[in-house]
Amino acid sequence: MDVAALGMLHYPDPRLRRVAKPVEDFGPWLDALIARMFEIMRDHKGVGLAAPQVGVDLRLFVMNATGEAVDDRVYLNPKLDQRSGWAEAEEGCLSLPGINVQVRRSVKCRLIAQDRNGKPIEAISSGFVSRIWQHEIDHLDGVMIIDKMAPSEAIAVRKVLRSLEADYEE
Ligand code: NI
Repeated sequence: MDVAALGMLHYPDPRLRRVAKPVEDFGPWLDALIARMFEIMRDHKGVGLAAPQVGVDLRLFVMNATGEAVDDRVYLNPKLDQRSGWAEAEEGCLSLPGINVQVRRSVKCRLIAQDRNGKPIEAISSGFVSRIWQHEIDHLDGVMIIDKMAPSEAIAVRKVLRSLEADYEE
């Protein structure tokens, strides 16, 4: 994989709508992909980035909730359970520039995943971190925040979506 060639995909690229495949090869090639994903995430000032957003059809995402290097996280083949509570908050998405919508998510959940070497990991979090997990794992299933916004927001967002669609056609 030529990771230097990877770049951010925007709506309505159909590659954002695939259900991504499990990571099964934990070989050295993964390091270059992960490093490149962190680089792209930082270039776009994001807090999370899922592999499908750069056109890679695999179940993995990177995130950093604080901006401190020590808080870099990468999760492979992630799943969520033990969800509790509901909260609505504004979210943006690097694949939907210019769009911010209210999204209802679980407040707290448990993440079960594998680390870069395939070793099982689990974590429990709430609030912002748990929201990033849910947002990024949605990407692995081809789901975006425009699928989850309140109907009242659809009208406001329509214009931006049309312009992204026009950009994509070019
Ligand atoms: Ni996103």
